[in-house]
Amino acid sequence: MVRVGLIGCGGMGMNLARHCHSLEDSKITAVHDRDEKALTRAAAEFGAQAYSSYKKLIASDVDAVIVATPNDSHAPITIAAANAGKHVFCEKPMALRVSDCRAMIDAAEKAGVKLMVGHVLRLIPVFWKTKQIIDSGILGKPFAIAVTRLGGPDSLAAGWRAAKKHAGGYLYEINVHELDYMRFVMGEPETVFASTGHFTASPVEFEDVAFVHIKYAGGGIGTLHCGGSSSIKKYEMMIQCTEGTIANGGFGGPIRYARFGEEPTVIQVSEITKEDPYREEIRCWVDAITKNTPLPFDGYDGMAAVQTAAAAYRSARLGRAVRYRR
Ligand SMILES: NC(=O)c1ccc[n+]([C@@H]2O[C@H](COP(=O)([O-])OP(=O)(O)OC[C@H]3O[C@@H](n4cnc5c(N)ncnc54)[C@H](O)[C@@H]3O)[C@@H](O)[C@H]2O)c1
Repeated sequence: MVRVGLIGCGGMGMNLARHCHSLEDSKITAVHDRDEKALTRAAAEFGAQAYSSYKKLIASDVDAVIVATPNDSHAPITIAAANAGKHVFCEKPMALRVSDCRAMIDAAEKAGVKLMVGHVLRLIPVFWKTKQIIDSGILGKPFAIAVTRLGGPDSLAAGWRAAKKHAGGYLYEINVHELDYMRFVMGEPETVFASTGHFTASPVEFEDVAFVHIKYAGGGIGTLHCGGSSSIKKYEMMIQCTEGTIANGGFGGPIRYARFGEEPTVIQVSEITKEDPYREEIRCWVDAITKNTPLPFDGYDGMAAVQTAAAAYRSARLGRAVRYRR
């Protein structure tokens, strides 16, 4: 039985913890949140011990922790937990600095503990199925990916998410998901060029629109258009491959794909059957701890997504393309 401590008992933390608590070989035995109400509620729901600081929770007899606090606190909590020999599931973005991601990986490797970063988009049915179709080889090799994910000025408008210090910016708080998925399909980025701006009444302390253009080491190209500046919400992805193209309409689908000269095949989300993505990521993490099975995505994936976002912000600041690896 893996004894798991939940640090950060908000929306995402509770979602992950409920899945974790429902598995056969893991239980939430300890909780911590800065907010007294959230802490008391979580302790009552799981019958867990409430701790008044993450350091006290980490010093307790838990085997592992889920870190689901605002983005800027992921690194210190993860490093402290790994140093104490606890396995870590850390929500995305892994951190707001590449050097912090590096330190998190180093701490986990030194302690010999598992470190997983919540890049759950890969497991969301429409994106999971899209990747499966690409991997089947039916469309050939992917050479171009275009992703649009736009919300309105009310996106990220409330609480810590609007603050640059805590959230980092759209590319960290939301679009590390897409940057990770684009790399999942296209391979390692090589150069990044980005433009960002703030044009609407959105109260966020960072950009409300960004265009990111990526050249991948394998020769492919990609573009991401994102932010919270559009009165028309849109999420879509198109991946061009050497023998055909696949497109999806985001979480709600559908997926359409066709080889050159053939009629498109359409798959509705309701036709895709798979495990709940949040349950799956937590189950894979617990399995990695108990059975030493491979993690579906890890600290290196988390760091790569942060590194791409960091390169994009650097490019936007400098007004020129930058190398992904400095
Ligand atoms: N993978 C996904 O799809 C996904 C979705 C939503 C959120 N997230 C990530 O999960 C994390 C949490 O997001 P959320 O939506 O649950 O936010 P939230 O605001 O609902 O919850 C955050 C909780 O952390 C607590 N908290 C704040 N600072 C703290 C600190 N220093 N120590 C302890 N507790 C602290 C708050 O009181 C709150 O209860 C973020 O990193 C976010 O990016 C990921």
